Amino acid sequence: MRRPLVAGNWKMHGTRAENTRLVEALIEASDEAPCDVVVCPPHVYLWEVGRQIKDAPIGLGAQTVCAEAQGAFTGEVSAAMLKDVGCQFAIVGHSERRLLYREDDTLVARKFVAAHAVGLTPILCVGETLEERERGVTEEVVGRQLDAVLAVAGATAFARALVAYEPVWAIGTGKNATPDQAQAVHAFIRARIAARDATIADGLRLLYGGSVKAANAAELFDQPDVDGGLVGGASLKADEFVRICAAAA
Ligand code: 13P
Repeated sequence: MRRPLVAGNWKMHGTRAENTRLVEALIEASDEAPCDVVVCPPHVYLWEVGRQIKDAPIGLGAQTVCAEAQGAFTGEVSAAMLKDVGCQFAIVGHSERRLLYREDDTLVARKFVAAHAVGLTPILCVGETLEERERGVTEEVVGRQLDAVLAVAGATAFARALVAYEPVWAIGTGKNATPDQAQAVHAFIRARIAARDATIADGLRLLYGGSVKAANAAELFDQPDVDGGLVGGASLKADEFVRICAAAA
């Protein structure tokens, strides 16, 4: 049985005061959450949020990580630094990183390895654009994104990793994938990993992301291969996020 996990990706939102209020409300509800709960604030707030949640059953994740271990990489933050400030998770390959900052499959794979190497749990994001879905190449795209990581990290690395299927057309659009669409791609992802290692694939938690809200979370999480969610906009509203977590029961 895979324990569900719901992660909030705050993206570039929030202030110290807003974070404090949001996290206070999440801590209050955290004992009742039927799933693992993770928050991913912007880097600059990781330490403070980490302090705030340190005695609560809430995990801390970074939204991205540098592929390099250390050195002259102005503005970047290494995996070891993220670990040092209390992170357990790091998102890699979010579509906004892939599309807006031109992170290609090779770089995403290196980031995955960098995060994994220091003991972080990478949350590898994969997903197709609307144009790719309409062209009928969703599995080709998602397969390629997965294979790039499998090639350098190996299937065994997925014993400590999560994969988030985030169709680009569903992110921030209010138009979520239907439960059937999500399930189909999740089953494909699991099979792709299972082809390398069936046991690891069976234990791997696959999150769905893209316009998850309290109103649609339960039907998405009900799918056999959907093991939770990676939530953007709705994770900034405490009530809504708590209700999404409750839907993982
Ligand atoms: P939304 O939930 O705002 O659609 O964002 C999804 C996402 O990109 C989470 O990483």
